Amino acid sequence: MKKYLVVGSPINHSLSPKLHNYWIKNNNIDAIYERQKIDEADLKNLIFEIKKKRIDGANVTVPFKKKIIPHLDILSPEANDTQSVNTIYLKNNKVIGHNTDIYGFESAIKNFRFDVSGKKVFILGAGGVVPSLIFALKNMKALEIVVANRTKAKAEHLKVLFKNIKVVNWGEIPDFDMIINATSIGLNKDDELNLDLKKVGNKKFFYDVIYSPSETNFLKNAKNQGNTSENGKLMFVYQALAAFRVWHGIQPEINDETLKLLDL
Ligand code: ATR
Repeated sequence: MKKYLVVGSPINHSLSPKLHNYWIKNNNIDAIYERQKIDEADLKNLIFEIKKKRIDGANVTVPFKKKIIPHLDILSPEANDTQSVNTIYLKNNKVIGHNTDIYGFESAIKNFRFDVSGKKVFILGAGGVVPSLIFALKNMKALEIVVANRTKAKAEHLKVLFKNIKVVNWGEIPDFDMIINATSIGLNKDDELNLDLKKVGNKKFFYDVIYSPSETNFLKNAKNQGNTSENGKLMFVYQALAAFRVWHGIQPEINDETLKLLDL
């Protein structure tokens, strides 16, 4: 039986096992997918286990998407350009780090039929997922990408990878067509961003990477103002789909039942 893992810290809330095991069963694959809380010191051993074929693949989540990189043999172009790895597999005895968050975000946005080309996009946050968002937005021909982060230096650091982005102070609201919450504010139901988003009007697209809770206050307020709003559930599903395809060579199905699995 093949064994797959999602590793991170914290990891208790990860819905990856539920989704992958559902697809594994539906496709009659002899495998199991589990979650494992690890420390940074465990990363080396994880890669060793993959090399020894005792683990057949892994998803990597917060806070190890960058920290895993020195342990890998090869990065896919997407992982290299974002310096972010969320999917690992073995090929020709080399451990390969890949990034399916880009595909996940891009597929989700296309599914919402929001056309990013020529649009101004404002990103809140500069954590692990943000390089993938920027990469995908550039792929989709965004006109301008502006980032604000509480710790401004972290937003500025993104310019090493993406020299054309703009950085503004936390609290500053530039003109935008699409705004993305990529902070962890909203994971707790009562969290408030405390940004002055009342004046932005009602024709904007508000996107939250968070999908649990399904409607953060960021999205709730946006909707009340008449804006379009979407959460990160489809991004999560599509990044999982791309990882599944890499490991099993099968395109799993996304339907209402798949999406319902993730409602808590
Ligand atoms: P990491 O920063 O370790 O990659 P993450 O979960 O990917 O972790 O990112 C958390 C994001 O939420 C960061 O952009 C963080 O801002 P800082 O870089 O200043 O820490 C942001 N964040 C978390 N709590 C916040 C708060 N109370 N106010 C504003 N931003 C917050």
